[in-house]
Amino acid sequence: MKYRKFGKLDWEVSVLGFGAMRLPVIDDDSSQIDEPKAAAMIRHAIDQGVNYVDMAYTYHQEQSERFVGKVLKDGYRDKVRVATKMPSWLVEEEADFDRLLTEQMTRLELDYLDFYLLHSLNARSWSNFQKLDVFTWAEKRMAEGLFGQLCFSFHDDYPVFESIVEGYDNWAMAQIQYNYMDIDVQAGTKGLKLASDRGLAVVVMEPLRGGRLVKDPQPDPIAGVWAKSDRDWTPAAWALHWVWDQPEVTTALSGMHTMAEVEENLAIASNSAVGKLTDEDHALIKEVRHTYQDLMPIPCTQCEYCLPCPSGVAIPRIFDIYNDAAAYDSWDRSKWAYNEFIKPEEMADQCVECGECEAACPQNIKIIEWLATVHQKLAKPPA
Ligand SMILES: NC(=O)c1ccc[n+]([C@@H]2O[C@H](COP(=O)([O-])OP(=O)(O)OC[C@H]3O[C@@H](n4cnc5c(N)ncnc54)[C@H](OP(=O)(O)O)[C@@H]3O)[C@@H](O)[C@H]2O)c1
Ligand code: SF4
Ligand code: SF4
Repeated sequence: MKYRKFGKLDWEVSVLGFGAMRLPVIDDDSSQIDEPKAAAMIRHAIDQGVNYVDMAYTYHQEQSERFVGKVLKDGYRDKVRVATKMPSWLVEEEADFDRLLTEQMTRLELDYLDFYLLHSLNARSWSNFQKLDVFTWAEKRMAEGLFGQLCFSFHDDYPVFESIVEGYDNWAMAQIQYNYMDIDVQAGTKGLKLASDRGLAVVVMEPLRGGRLVKDPQPDPIAGVWAKSDRDWTPAAWALHWVWDQPEVTTALSGMHTMAEVEENLAIASNSAVGKLTDEDHALIKEVRHTYQDLMPIPCTQCEYCLPCPSGVAIPRIFDIYNDAAAYDSWDRSKWAYNEFIKPEEMADQCVECGECEAACPQNIKIIEWLATVHQKLAKPPA
């Protein structure tokens, strides 16, 4: 295993961390973790040098913390640093901070957490945490020895990321979605460099874009690009080496689902290094990125000139979900995302065809036609 210094801390973290969000389950039910299989995977990773485990209140329908707490018995707790996350969307008042932390520590059966993250910060939750002064609360609880470091994970645009990084002096770490497709998405490369410059450790999540970059078989045009290289790397190896090539990345979490994935990612991590990729490798990855982008049928650049739509339609977010489905052949996931993350009042069927968005779109996209197509393909059939 390879290790890297964790931001300002006098500690080195394994470059591969274990994300306990996609553990093997029984009967396709995410609340029923296949405990013998999952425990063997996590303990094997720790035996091979992984020293960072990531959880959250919500993962596996709130079963992840309880389960990982059991796995960390028999001496495994002492071999890792544990990170879990306060569910920002369940915080309404200051009293919620203690209520959630206590509940999470009880589930984990731990009296100390190494890293406590504000989960999935965005403009709204960041403003809420500032209003409720989470910092004074966190500093008290850290002084009492309940957790070691206050951190955050992030899902919003770069300007929000910058205001969060600059908004508190004592962040130990930022957790960002980052992979070779997402260099300009959310925090992106700019956010990675900013956080690293400010001395934060940067923990990467979704290095394989939640598994979408490693679909087997790869779409024909993508497989064709990989075939140009002499390297015998799998798509997972390409994606992980790209992440670990960068000095600003502290560790990458993978939500491994099988023991074979654990074995493969351990091996890739052991061969990783800053600056490992050659100029030819970078050019090839750039070509793969462009090839995926070419598989996206709607040429939307997410510029948001079409917003606000007077009917409230979330045009760019809807197009992003549809393009994802087409490029990565992940239709089930995009159906879920459309129905879960787009509110009914923002959906494509709210369009009244006023045409304002089309007049504003620099890409001349036939927005009205595309919205109809997207809704027809992704919306849940009426109950
Ligand atoms: N804070 C947040 O808001 C947030 C959001 C997302 C994730 N996270 C955390 O970050 C962790 C990492 O994100 P992620 O789980 O999306 O990571 P990821 O590595 O991008 O995706 C994991 C998926 O990739 C596939 N995979 C992993 N290794 C593979 C290999 N060697 N070969 C082929 N396929 C492989 C598996 O898919 P299959 O299931 O198809 O086998 C697995 O479910 C999560 O587990 C979670 O702890 C946090
Ligand atoms: S055409 Fe539809 S999506 Fe575009 S601005 Fe008008 S109502 Fe909104
Ligand atoms: S204006 Fe056009 S390109 Fe820009 S976000 Fe809207 S649909 Fe996409």
